[in-house]
Amino acid sequence: MSDERQKVGGKGKASRRDFLKMALATTVAGMTVPFVHAQGSGKLRVGVIGCGGRGTGAAIDCANADPAVEIYALGDLFPDRLQSSFNRLKEQLKERCNVTPDRCFTGFDNYKGVINSGVDIVILATPPAFRPIHFRAAVEAGKHVFMEKPVAVCPAGVRLVLEYAQIAQQKKLTVVAGTQRRHDFGYRETIQRLHDGAIGDIVAAYGYWNQGGLWSVPKRPEMTDVEWQIRNWLYFTWLSGDHIVEQHVHNLDVLNWVLKAHPVKAMGVGGRQARTAPIYGNIYDHFAIEFEYPNGVRVLSMCRQI
Ligand SMILES: NC(=O)c1ccc[n+]([C@@H]2O[C@H](COP(=O)([O-])OP(=O)(O)OC[C@H]3O[C@@H](n4cnc5c(N)ncnc54)[C@H](O)[C@@H]3O)[C@@H](O)[C@H]2O)c1
Repeated sequence: MSDERQKVGGKGKASRRDFLKMALATTVAGMTVPFVHAQGSGKLRVGVIGCGGRGTGAAIDCANADPAVEIYALGDLFPDRLQSSFNRLKEQLKERCNVTPDRCFTGFDNYKGVINSGVDIVILATPPAFRPIHFRAAVEAGKHVFMEKPVAVCPAGVRLVLEYAQIAQQKKLTVVAGTQRRHDFGYRETIQRLHDGAIGDIVAAYGYWNQGGLWSVPKRPEMTDVEWQIRNWLYFTWLSGDHIVEQHVHNLDVLNWVLKAHPVKAMGVGGRQARTAPIYGNIYDHFAIEFEYPNGVRVLSMCRQI
């Protein structure tokens, strides 16, 4: 958690970050990227767009995955976030963090700078609202992509990502998303056994992500509302898609994977029961949904951050 972030709400002992640390190291490390060394350098140059907890962590995972990897360019909306990421990368990766000041980009156009800096791979780890346009720009420029989940927060964004996923495939670009369960050998083996019929036909399933509170960044007098919202992106639907999209997506993904299908109907409830203060933006604090899958399979999905 960065210095400006304060733990807020909930009774849970472990923060989401503490919890996720255990599960994270699989994502970028599992990405195989053939034929992409920067011309003549023998290096795989990685650019990070969105230098927060996950962007920085993914960059470290990536460097740990192969000695040919070097972190080459950084982009973040805010200079202070970029600086703290740079400090952490330099401390942990030493000379393999080969980021020079002219390859550091801030402001809303930071992604263009990173993509055009000579990198082979980009890590997209901003709040998800920005992901579709960053993904489109990366694919148009012929870059391999590791992008964090969720890949979008609205139907238009999802459609753009699907369109550019196809273009990436035509261009033979590697694209990996941070739906990390897909790269976890435990999940893969277990789900393979379910698919092989270990428990027979699945007629019902249950998915839960029930946890305590997260962090919040207090509004400083010099912050505009937009800056404050983006620094507190979790709490605003336009930035995060709400926590069912931003967080529980991992478990919804597993349910779809197990059932080899997507829901055909959904009926649910949700609301703001405990997190009603303005610092919690406009997202809900709990949801319970009943999904109906093809063949009448019923799935209960529940998530809360209280
Ligand atoms: N796979 C996983 O387990 C996992 C774990 C944590 C987070 N995530 C995902 O990673 C993404 C980032 O989460 P995080 O925890 O690192 O958040 P974070 O707030 O720590 O980092 C986000 C960073 O993006 C920057 N940013 C905001 N808007 C930007 C823009 N337009 N251009 C460039 N930078 C911008 C912020 O300043 C911040 O530094 C989210 O989509 C989140 O859901 C995935």
